[in-house]
Amino acid sequence: MNIDGKTQKYGLIGNPVEHSVSPMIHNFLADKMKQNMVYSTFQVNSEDLGNAIDGAHALKIQGLNVTVPYKTEVMKLLSTIEEDAKIIGAVNTLVYQNEGYHGRNTDYEGLYLAMKSDGIDISNEHIIILGAGGAARAAVYMCMKYSDYPIYILNRTKSKAEKLASEMNQFFNRTQVTTFAMNEYKEIPEIQKGYVAIQTTSVGLYPNIYDVVIEEEDFYKLLHTGYDVIYNPVKTEFMNRVESVNGKSYNGLKMLLYQGILAYETWRNLDVPGEISNEVLKKMKEELHEKA
Ligand code: ATR
Repeated sequence: MNIDGKTQKYGLIGNPVEHSVSPMIHNFLADKMKQNMVYSTFQVNSEDLGNAIDGAHALKIQGLNVTVPYKTEVMKLLSTIEEDAKIIGAVNTLVYQNEGYHGRNTDYEGLYLAMKSDGIDISNEHIIILGAGGAARAAVYMCMKYSDYPIYILNRTKSKAEKLASEMNQFFNRTQVTTFAMNEYKEIPEIQKGYVAIQTTSVGLYPNIYDVVIEEEDFYKLLHTGYDVIYNPVKTEFMNRVESVNGKSYNGLKMLLYQGILAYETWRNLDVPGEISNEVLKKMKEELHEKA
């Protein structure tokens, strides 16, 4: 990497950010795609978020990713926001424009591409979503965008699931999403093919690696595939449970990869070839094993 006076700057805003793999993803892509750019992290305190965005814009930082806990809060600081990010209620990618930053959400499309690359055609699947927080919003939006089949949301706090379902049903003008409390999963109709479940809660995240959001084996028997948005640990307890009843399971590493690829493609206005995406994924795996 040759940093000079023309190097374009990118970064990640959040708190904490020091263990993020995003710098590796974007600097690796910059190298492979021969782009004169650099990407690093900016740990920002809550009271400084407005100044950070204004300052980044004044410095003509060309693009930013936004992560926890600012994906929603940052929205009021942007000049334009894409429609899908507005309904999801979260932005993870900012693109420099003269008048201010433009906000996008590449998380939901990242999840779509991840599942596609794992051979899951969402347009042909009945879906169960575990959780009703920020990650669930992106997952529900993605499923509704690409599939007309029923979607069941299971959440500990049923009222939160109901709110999410009613917002999304209204937006898409359908009655596709139904909600249950976690312990009401038996009300989900059994289907021969089985469901794809997307695990969007933080339950099972390192260091609580033996936790799982739903214990009963009967629940896992409803599924043919389990997709966890968590990637640390690499194999979550949720994934173990899915596999114990012969389902297929995947972690969230590819979602992380593709949200990054999509952000990168937006910023640099280019297409990243599949072989290079695969190389990034390999590098991410190495990096995470090194840290583990
Ligand atoms: P994120 O933006 O990462 O999705 P969030 O908005 O705080 O985070 O949402 C966290 C999700 O994990 C919620 O669905 C939450 O359930 P509640 O709505 O009942 O709070 C779920 N969650 C977190 N801890 C949980 C636990 N111990 N058991 C069950 N669900 C849990």
